[in-house]
This record gives sequence, C-alpha cells and structure tokens, in this order.
Amino acid sequence: MKKDNFFKINKICCIGAGYVGGPTMAVIAKMCRDLEITIVDLDKNKIDLWNSEKLDELPVFEPGLCEIINECRGKNLSFSTNIKEAIESSQMIFIAVNTPTKESGIGAGEASDLGYVESCARDISLYAKDNTIVIEKSTIPVKTADIINKILNCSSSDRKFHILSNPEFLSEGSAIQDLLKPNRVLIGGDNEKAVDGLANIYNRWIDNKKIIKTNVWSAELSKLTSNAFLAQRISSINTISAICEKTGANINEVSKSIGLDKRIGKYFLQHGPGFGGSCFKKDILNLIYISKFYGLPEVAEYWEKVLDINNWQKKRISRIVVNNLFGTLKNKKIAILGFAFKAETNDTRESSAIDICKDLLEEGAYLSIYDPKVDFEKISQELLPNENLINDNMNILSAKTIAMAVDDADAVIILTEWDEFKDICWNDFSEIMRKPSWLFDCRDVIQLNSIDKGKINLWKCGYSI
Ligand code: UDX
Ligand code: ADP
Repeated sequence: MKKDNFFKINKICCIGAGYVGGPTMAVIAKMCRDLEITIVDLDKNKIDLWNSEKLDELPVFEPGLCEIINECRGKNLSFSTNIKEAIESSQMIFIAVNTPTKESGIGAGEASDLGYVESCARDISLYAKDNTIVIEKSTIPVKTADIINKILNCSSSDRKFHILSNPEFLSEGSAIQDLLKPNRVLIGGDNEKAVDGLANIYNRWIDNKKIIKTNVWSAELSKLTSNAFLAQRISSINTISAICEKTGANINEVSKSIGLDKRIGKYFLQHGPGFGGSCFKKDILNLIYISKFYGLPEVAEYWEKVLDINNWQKKRISRIVVNNLFGTLKNKKIAILGFAFKAETNDTRESSAIDICKDLLEEGAYLSIYDPKVDFEKISQELLPNENLINDNMNILSAKTIAMAVDDADAVIILTEWDEFKDICWNDFSEIMRKPSWLFDCRDVIQLNSIDKGKINLWKCGYSI
C-alpha cells in the first residue's frame, strides 16, 4: 500500500476554465505563490483567450481578475488544453465544470446533467499517477461525490482518491473579493488528512474559524440550501413589490424597514425583474428533484413556488410594458438597457432579460439592446438559440451606445443595474424618442425627481407613480 502524502501539495489542476474555475484558481495562485496551478479546459478558444495578451478579452469579466491574471500567469498559473499532462502531475484536482439542467430523459427539466462531471472523473481515473485529492467545486446535486467516488475507486490500482466537496459561494461581479474575504469556506469529506490538505491552502489567507469541516453530504446540501434561501428572499420581496405598486407603499422603505430586523437582515431584499444566473434556478430544481425522488412532494411544491414567482415577476413586467404601449408592440422599437443577469458580469445565463425580451419579440416589437459587457453574439445565442441569423434578424439589433439604442424608441426598459444607467438625463434623451415615450425601470436606478413627467412616462418596479 502506498503511503498517503497529502500534505505535500505543490501542483494543482483545475478542470474547467469558466466563471468558477478561472477566478477561484487565480486567487489561490495569488495567495499561494509556491503552488503551481494549471487550469485546463476542452474549449481551445477559451484557453486561447485566457492566454491572450489582451487582458480586456478574458473570457470572464470580473472586477480585479485581469490584474491577478497579469500578476500570476506565466509564473505559477497557467492555462492549457492538455488535460492528461495536468492531471498526471497534480496531487490535487478541482472539478469546476458546468452542470446544466438535463434537457431530456429521466429528470429532464429538473435534475442536473452530470455528464461533464462524470467525464472529468473518467479522465482523472485514467491519467492520475498517484494518490490524489479530488475536489468538487461545481454546483452539483447532493450525492454527486458518490458518483465520482464510484468511478475513481473502482479500478484495482493501488492509487487512492479522496473526494471532497468544497462548494463555491462566490457571487459573480464580486468574485475576487468573495474569494479573498469569504464569509466561510466549506470543506466536506471523510478523510481528515485530505480535508486538512485543502484547509491548509485556504488557511494561508483565511482565518481557521471560517473554515468549516463537515461530511460530504452536508457540504453539498448546504450549497443548494444557501442558494435556495437567497432566491426565496428575492421571490418574496418581488411579491411585495407588486403589492407596493397597488397600495402606494414604497418598496425601498419596506425593504429597509424589514432588513433592519437583525433576524431578517438587509441583504438580498432588492426587488427587480427576477433572479437570474447559473445557480439559483438550477439549485432549486435540484432540490425539487431530490425531494420528489425521496417521496417528499410537499417539499418539492414549496420550492417550486419560489421559481413560479420568479417567472411570474418576469411575465408581470412584460405585461405592464405591453399594456402601457396600448396593447401592441407591432412596429415599435424598444430599447433594452442591460442584458447580463446582473451588473459587473458578462454572464447572461438565465438572465431575466432573456425571457422578457422573448415576450416582447412575440408581441412584434423590435429590440435594440445595449449592454456594456455582453456582445451581440451572446445575445443572439440566448434569444435565437436555434437560428443562424445573427446579423439577419431584423427584430434584434445590437446598439453600440445608449443613444443608439434609445434613438426613435417608443420605450426603454432597464434590466441590469449597470452604473452607467444611473446618471442618464432622461429629459434630454426623451427628445430623440417617439412620443409618448416610456421608461420602465426594473432595477430601481432612476431617481423619481429627475424625470419631467411631461417629457417621459416612468414606470418603476415597486412604486405606484
Ligand atoms: C449566487 C450566490 O449568491 C453565490 O453565493 C453562489 O455561489 C452562486 O450563485 P450569483 O449567481 O453570481 O451568485 O449572483 P447573485 O448576486 O446571487 O445574484 C443572482 C440574481 O439575483 C441576479 O440576477 C441578481 O440581480 C438577483 N438579485 C440579487 C436580486 O434580484 N435581488 C437581490 O437582492 C440580490
Ligand atoms: P461555471 O459557471 O460552473 O464555471 P462555465 O460554463 O463558465 O461554468 O465553465 C465550465 C467550463 O468547463 C467550460 O469552459 C467547459 O468547456 C469546461 N468543461 C466541461 N466539461 C469538461 C471536461 N470534461 N474537461 C475539461 N473541461 C470541461
């Protein structure tokens, strides 16, 4: 039997160079200059971009990230498509691949597609030369560690694999700060040495008290539960936004008042067009799936309601736009400001803008979309996934500036809270819009007193105006 040597970790590999793998490894590389870290991905295009001299073209936009890449790349951080070589030489391997919701087969629409995770486990099983710590970093359903374990530990070789769950709590847009100063780091595992091997890395910059060691299933379930609770708060406040619009209560006054109760707390009470992002919906769907699987239909229904309300909020906004534009959007130009699922990221996954834009397109509108970080190719892929009409589709236009988007539009809808949307002089912009002009502020970025009612009609989510 080989002797475990988990304390001597000097080479780390991360499979998956996306929104999780990229920033997480960049921060570990920055904080542990003696560790050699390789991030690998199947996608050569993506790896080329990570290796590009043009730091403003990194595949992930995240404040503070390009500075770290500039500092560590070519020193103790590298990006490669050579998965075999990276696995062979590493004592610790992070799995940070995507886990989309299954589109067909058992659990379609609810369960996660673990094909990518399985394929990583098979690569590790094939190439790892020695005892290896394998860490689940992707957002995964409870019991995924079991699958990885079965694949890795089924061969007769005398290598030992220890599987840990180390869920990622970073929030896009503040990922670097979240990684540098996390609320907590969760490490689930049943092998003390392996858990300590990972804890000792984080411990270089994170206080021991913040490193929580649990069993694997608790770590996996905690991740889903954290995200489900956060999403539930957003759905809750969004239901209250609709009540505010009817009653004259002010949504911000209500959020502030309830948030000052320490038992409730002030975070994640911002109303808006519904939550997006790669995690919330998927994690709740996973909770729904396992609840049904374990014969807990009431639990499944409870969490389903959080998603229903999220969809309802998006539909509610589309309906309000159509109703205010006299019930039809045919031949009307609508300017969409913001397509990312929130500010400070170029990620569009599950962005509320997708569903709202699709509704407006169905009503016959043509959309002029402006987002400072999302390119038109991504927008087209989200809105017309089955078409090859990137440039030909006359109903969607990409605007290079806010003014181009707004020019001759009947209405403007603000869907992402980018800073640059906060100081626009709408009284001036209304001059280049069609009359009557409408501004729909779904992100609460417009000051009520900055708008001249005679020039532009304002609708603000959560306000009765
Ligand atoms: C989330 C979790 O916050 C993070 O801990 C986890 O690891 C991954 O999933 P992320 O998806 O990056 O992070 O973004 P988050 O800031 O949570 O926002 C998700 C969505 O909720 C966004 O669309 C955002 O606009 C919306 N949101 C957030 C609100 O509508 N109101 C709020 O008060 C907060
Ligand atoms: P996340 O937000 O979870 O980081 P992303 O989609 O941004 O998700 O990144 C996941 C990355 O994992 C993608 O770049 C994808 O190409 C990569 N990937 C998926 N499966 C594999 C695999 N078997 N080997 C290497 N890379 C993979």
